[in-house]
Amino acid sequence: MAILETHDLSKRFGRMWAVKKVNLSVEPGEIFGFLGPNGAGKSTTINMLTTLLKPTEGQALIAGHDVVAEPEKVRQNIGLVFQDPSLDETLTARENLYFHALLYGIPAKSREQKITMFLQAMELEHRKNSLVKTFSGGMRRRLEIARGLLHDPRVLFLDEPTLGLDPQTRRLIWKYVIDLRNRLETTIFLTTHYLEEAEHCDRIAIIDRGEIIAMDTPANLKSRLGGDIISMDTADNAAAAAFIENTWGHAVTSQQTGLSFKVANGEQFIPVLVKSLNIPIKTISVRKPTLEDVFVSLTGRNIRDEVMDEKEGMRLRVRARRTR
Ligand SMILES: Nc1ncnc2c1ncn2[C@@H]1O[C@H](COP(=O)(O)OP(=O)(O)OP(=O)(O)O)[C@@H](O)[C@H]1O
Ligand SMILES: [Mg+2]
Repeated sequence: MAILETHDLSKRFGRMWAVKKVNLSVEPGEIFGFLGPNGAGKSTTINMLTTLLKPTEGQALIAGHDVVAEPEKVRQNIGLVFQDPSLDETLTARENLYFHALLYGIPAKSREQKITMFLQAMELEHRKNSLVKTFSGGMRRRLEIARGLLHDPRVLFLDEPTLGLDPQTRRLIWKYVIDLRNRLETTIFLTTHYLEEAEHCDRIAIIDRGEIIAMDTPANLKSRLGGDIISMDTADNAAAAAFIENTWGHAVTSQQTGLSFKVANGEQFIPVLVKSLNIPIKTISVRKPTLEDVFVSLTGRNIRDEVMDEKEGMRLRVRARRTR
């Protein structure tokens, strides 16, 4: 039986449908990823699944309990790590967990043992008595995950668990997440716009403008695309794109860095292309499809174009202030 299920789950803000008829069925122990650009509706979906936001239409069930009719039952079964930091900075790591344990009615006799266990699992035991304000971003995130797990939820929701973290810390968090699923069989539902991370999921749903546009294992999504991706940059990309489309009928996507298109066999196609194209080629490469290519082929857009990570956002804001 599915541990998480939605039927035409929808949310409207004013006149805009932020989430449109989302149908999901997640199995116990699955790592399920929600992949989509900024504003796609990922957090809105998580907020409905975790009882924080009421659906406009449709239904969602967690462990068989309806999020609207039985919010308390749902809350007992879930843990949540928000997109935005939510720890109390003026408390120590242990205190943050302790108050969560009280809130969730974890019996006094197992409280300390549970806190120690999850601090150890997240490799924070040695810092348990430090104030959270002295923690790095990665340590804070790990503590939030520990807190989300403290009451033994059957489903752990992670909204952008690694946003703004450096690649090494991101890898570490993934190691914990996978280990967690393997040891405790916790179902994990997470959102991300990092394509490399979506690769770690058992299954992903790609969400764009509130709608699910594809759902499968990362391997299946990529293999459905088939063939090879050729990326190239030329002296005249518009003319090259027109030539390729007219000559071979391949649909060419134009990006800032150049052109890309899909062919059945890249190694064989490149020599043919180089011979017949009368436009100087600056660079050309061939590779297997990635999830980014899946997104491009489904939407005609690049996920990165729309995504601004925290650092970039900060930089842009600083720049805007300077030029004002
Ligand atoms: N409380 C709200 N009131 C009005 N509009 C909202 C509200 N919350 C979200 N939205 C809108 O709904 C859409 C989906 O937002 P949501 O936060 O779910 O996106 P997201 O996929 O989580 O994006 P991100 O990657 O930036 O976190 C956006 O257009 C957003 O502006
Ligand atoms: Mg979000």
